[in-house]
Amino acid sequence: MKHILVTGGAGYIGTHTVVELINNGFVPVIVDDFRNSSHLAIQGIEHITKQKLLIHEFDLCDLIAVKSLFSRYSFDGIIHFAAYKAVGESVNSPLKYYTNNLQSLTNILACMIEFQVNNLVFSSSCTVYGDPVGIKEVSENSEKAQPSSPYGNTKLIGENIIEDTAKANPWLKSICLRYFNPVGAHPSAEIGEFPIGKPNNLLPFVTQTAIGLHEKLTVFGNDYPTVDGSCVRDFIHVVDLANAHVQAIDFLNSHKDGFNEAINIGTGKGTSVLEIINLFEKISNQKLNWEFGPRRDGDVIEIFANASKAKELLNWEAKHTVEDAVLSAWNWEINLKQKRF
Ligand code: UD1
Repeated sequence: MKHILVTGGAGYIGTHTVVELINNGFVPVIVDDFRNSSHLAIQGIEHITKQKLLIHEFDLCDLIAVKSLFSRYSFDGIIHFAAYKAVGESVNSPLKYYTNNLQSLTNILACMIEFQVNNLVFSSSCTVYGDPVGIKEVSENSEKAQPSSPYGNTKLIGENIIEDTAKANPWLKSICLRYFNPVGAHPSAEIGEFPIGKPNNLLPFVTQTAIGLHEKLTVFGNDYPTVDGSCVRDFIHVVDLANAHVQAIDFLNSHKDGFNEAINIGTGKGTSVLEIINLFEKISNQKLNWEFGPRRDGDVIEIFANASKAKELLNWEAKHTVEDAVLSAWNWEINLKQKRF
């Protein structure tokens, strides 16, 4: 049985990945200190998989605790999700982001070296492309730019730290998965995103508005040079994204030493903010209260993935449509309402 360490395994993408790892015969070992996640997420996974999970509750910035975990298990791979991810907060508290996101990564890499664990999948983001002026479809070879926030910088620097560490330790293998916009929830509606506080991301704000938690959604900008004036993103269903991690682990396990690359994970298709709203209204059969507002600082106009490398190397491609994602996000919101009250 292959043991995979999943840091941040109680988080949004982590929970869905734990489910898919179990579905594919792996034994996930979760580390999460629940500062940004809920124990309800663990219950959700256990309902879906009908399995008791291995969970360790500690802060990954604590090197002694990380070492002690590595001495207990013989890991066949590591999927490192645990990180802060709120763009706006990172602008106001950059050191919180640099310290937490980078120290946890260096601790993991140090233990990988000490305990000779050689397969790492790192949670990166299309934010490493910054604002790619003049191109909408980005491939891994597209020029990287300065991300628009300290959060984004931690992803770019994280990729660089892994690359440098792998150069010095050629047996170490890694894949940095650059996610586009993860959305949706497990079809069971047992797990999904638990936004803490007011969500900044589009789809949680849409579903929370529809369920009555906010009065209205503001669409940031109506005069962008896009299909309908609103921004365009590549919305990737979280279950597809979870499977990309399983396929990345499989790939690393079967690949020889020295593989260290970044791979885009998206659908390859752009959908505008207004198209998401229309889809939501159609799927939920209700009108959403929304209005146009000014552009949001730092927003990229239009970006979607060239996902051919994922297909070529991992034999991965998105199977769910954006409609599936919106429907599952809505079902999850309805289910979450029962948990909230
Ligand atoms: C954001 C982060 C990105 C991160 C990703 C995680 C920024 C600049 N980027 O991407 O680094 O990896 O989340 O999912 O924040 N929108 C509205 N009204 C809202 C919320 C969003 O119109 O209330 C629009 C935004 O202007 C944007 C689109 O919806 O055009 C998507 O926004 P969001 O979900 O925040 O994702 P990104 O900004 O693409």
